Amino acid sequence: MKIKHLSYILLYEVRNLLKMACSSILTPPAAVRGMKVLEKAAFAKKICVPCFTIKTSTMDLARKALKPYLLKLEKFQPVLDYPGDPTQKKVLLNPETVNSLEDLKENDRNKIKELGHKLESTEIEVGFDNWRSDQILRAVLPEGEEGSKGYTIIGHILHLNLREHLIPFKGLIAKVLLEKTKNIRTVVNKVDNIENTYRNFQMEVLAGDNDLVTSVKENNCQFHLDFGLVYWNSRLSTEHSRITDKIKTTDVIYDIFAGIGPFAIPAALKGARVMANDLNPESFKWLEHNVKVNKAERRGGSVRCFNKDGREFILSDVKDDLEQVLKSDAPVSKVHIVMNLPAIASTFLDALRGLVNNSCAESNIPVIVHVYCFARDFEPEKLALELIEKDAGFKLGGNLIELKIVRKVAPSKHMVCVSFSYPLSKLCGEGEEEPVKKKPCLE
Ligand SMILES: C[S@@+](CC[C@H](N)C(=O)[O-])C[C@H]1O[C@@H](n2cnc3c(N)ncnc32)[C@H](O)[C@@H]1O
Repeated sequence: MKIKHLSYILLYEVRNLLKMACSSILTPPAAVRGMKVLEKAAFAKKICVPCFTIKTSTMDLARKALKPYLLKLEKFQPVLDYPGDPTQKKVLLNPETVNSLEDLKENDRNKIKELGHKLESTEIEVGFDNWRSDQILRAVLPEGEEGSKGYTIIGHILHLNLREHLIPFKGLIAKVLLEKTKNIRTVVNKVDNIENTYRNFQMEVLAGDNDLVTSVKENNCQFHLDFGLVYWNSRLSTEHSRITDKIKTTDVIYDIFAGIGPFAIPAALKGARVMANDLNPESFKWLEHNVKVNKAERRGGSVRCFNKDGREFILSDVKDDLEQVLKSDAPVSKVHIVMNLPAIASTFLDALRGLVNNSCAESNIPVIVHVYCFARDFEPEKLALELIEKDAGFKLGGNLIELKIVRKVAPSKHMVCVSFSYPLSKLCGEGEEEPVKKKPCLE
């Protein structure tokens, strides 16, 4: 009994050792480590893989049982014609999961046994085309650093944000990703972290076409843009729809930092009346273009586009329109003011204080502000609220609607959206001791 038990343990250990040895089979050759200029030939490798020889007539039955164990590689067929014998096929299995028949689940194993097949092994040659990009980069880049090269995709552009120590490998990384990522024509790397006024990235084209004009789909809209000249972040798509989901046909939206229109256009498509502004002439150009492309007015909504500083836009166009809205009998359910420029949006809040004429004081149309900011530390909601209250110049109290952590932008930095109902008394400047000072724009 004891001997039997011991032999089981030994068998178990041997199989584990075999598995550990096999776990490096499906990786490119060790010699590629540190490669800086892509040499595809160096990725070729002969590997020994388990296989079954299957009669063509029983292929369908066998394929069903063997499907979970097939050898899966890029551009690779695990079922091969048998050399010189059309009545048979060779089925190649994954050496990292199959070492013996025992590695097949009982049902599958029985089916294969019934068909009378024996596990064999065969040698095959795999190369650059067969490895996935993550396998290639893991094999090439310094050990433990392969994971530190996340990217985002914007239309046909793959956008890297390489850390300093991976810069020597940038050409190789770009070439591998260009070749291995579907529908990518251009690979760029963010050049520095300095935020410019228009929030567009400084980029270096590392591989592919030098063409940064692209198009992305978000929330059922198509957005065209020049990624070198305007702001776009695909990671905000959920946030864009979170806000636009709140918009009703009878709402009015003032989008102060509109970019190329990811809030404005879906809102108009819901039938709302939108005034959208951006300081960047290129964003303004693409915003107008996207309004046309998406036929943003087809469901009765509208988008008027402006190219001004946000403060000037608030103090002139928003003021005039808001006064009309608050005084008129037109059926407006809500006014939304969207301010997505997290680094400085809150410093524009003071422009709303006393913005409209006292004759609007009787209105009961809610004016909702959605203002974005960055908050550090472990209590981002608390810090965000403090910042917004400081810059708005009053406590939000019961006017606070929602504090939403949108995303983590750095290990201890969060993007937060604070939504609150702007008190009409403050909007009309009631009880103000002195006229509200209008700070100059920060930029
Ligand atoms: C963070 S982006 C947001 C764009 C868009 N709302 C989005 O979600 O994609 C901020 C935008 O504000 C614009 N901007 C920067 N300073 C501005 C200002 N003083 N007045 C108006 N727009 C400004 C930038 O050009 C940029 O398009």
